[in-house]
Amino acid sequence: MNHYFATVARGLEPIAAAELERLGAKEVRPDFTGVHFVGDKALLYRVNLWARTIFRVLVPIHEFACYDAQMLYREVQKISWLDYLHPNNTLAVDCTGGNQKLNHTHFTALQVKNAIVDQQRDKSGHRSSVDTENPDVRINVHIHQDRCILSLDSSGTSLHRRGYRPAMGLAPLKETLAASILDMAEWDANLPFLDPLCGSGTLPLEAALKALNIAPGLFREKFGFFSWLDFDEQLWDEIWAEAENSEISDLKAPIWGSDKDPDILSQAHTNAQRCGIADKLTFTQTELSQLEAPADSGVLICNPPYGERLGDERELGELYKMLGDVFKQRFKGWTAFVLTGNKELSKRVGLKTSRRIPVYNGSLACTLLKYELY
Ligand SMILES: C[S@@+](CC[C@H](N)C(=O)[O-])C[C@H]1O[C@@H](n2cnc3c(N)ncnc32)[C@H](O)[C@@H]1O
Repeated sequence: MNHYFATVARGLEPIAAAELERLGAKEVRPDFTGVHFVGDKALLYRVNLWARTIFRVLVPIHEFACYDAQMLYREVQKISWLDYLHPNNTLAVDCTGGNQKLNHTHFTALQVKNAIVDQQRDKSGHRSSVDTENPDVRINVHIHQDRCILSLDSSGTSLHRRGYRPAMGLAPLKETLAASILDMAEWDANLPFLDPLCGSGTLPLEAALKALNIAPGLFREKFGFFSWLDFDEQLWDEIWAEAENSEISDLKAPIWGSDKDPDILSQAHTNAQRCGIADKLTFTQTELSQLEAPADSGVLICNPPYGERLGDERELGELYKMLGDVFKQRFKGWTAFVLTGNKELSKRVGLKTSRRIPVYNGSLACTLLKYELY
């Protein structure tokens, strides 16, 4: 059994912990922006392929006291790097956190990289080159007060990059956040789903992938552990095949996305095609004021623009007011959720919330507002 650490967006730790448990993780323990868990190599591969709500899975290889750069260099050199990294492999070092003496992440990462390549050169006469974009082995160094944790990054690029989205709207939600919001809303695949401001379609797409039991990692070309020296290709092929065979052929309840902007909708459609599910869900061009409920009941989730990045506040006030009017007049029997980072705008919806869930969208503190529409 190995110890793993899944990195997650702030506030999503309990959602990610529940998902990891469902995937078979043991000793699951949420922490700040991450979740500790225990499992075998098969679990590591399965989590990378199946997890919808986490960014990366780190595999800690050394934890030590660390006050300054010299101590860091010495400790990194204690690891036998030839066990993890062949000099022909490229590497990258990411750093998070810091302390009084190690307060520049770039410098700390450089110090770790130097300790590794110096050891390689001493032992074999060769050293790994650095490739920050697409390295064979990505190393993560995390410093907090006088402790340092050095980990291998089993995911490589963040798992929110599913690989299905070359096209995205102006302010797309991260796929991991969209999947987490579906969990927070307690949406299940038996309920009709609608996002009337769907943009590039992240919420409907994540809902459809979940409903069809499609592993989100199936669209990725690569995971970090593919170039690890202990990569078990046979085990991976089994886990991959198991995922391919788990797909459900039809949705139990319809999933719709609509938006007023035809160009953004065509991006949503392209994204759906890339997932191979374009025939399963429906995207239509509809101005919010013209929207009618497509079923007697269901779950509606949307993230209207909230002024930080898009749109003008006065115009947005009208949009939020219209959301409230449309909900009240045409969506009786539905449960609606609105993700917003703007308190003033949210008041313009003008309906009583039954829940307010704090959520971070990147660094923006937002709220997921829930409305029961009777
Ligand atoms: C913040 S974006 C949604 C992003 C989306 N969740 C994604 O992941 O791509 C808000 C969307 O609302 C749409 N929108 C704004 N006003 C609208 C209106 N009156 N009717 C329909 N769509 C509207 C915009 O075109 C934009 O795509």
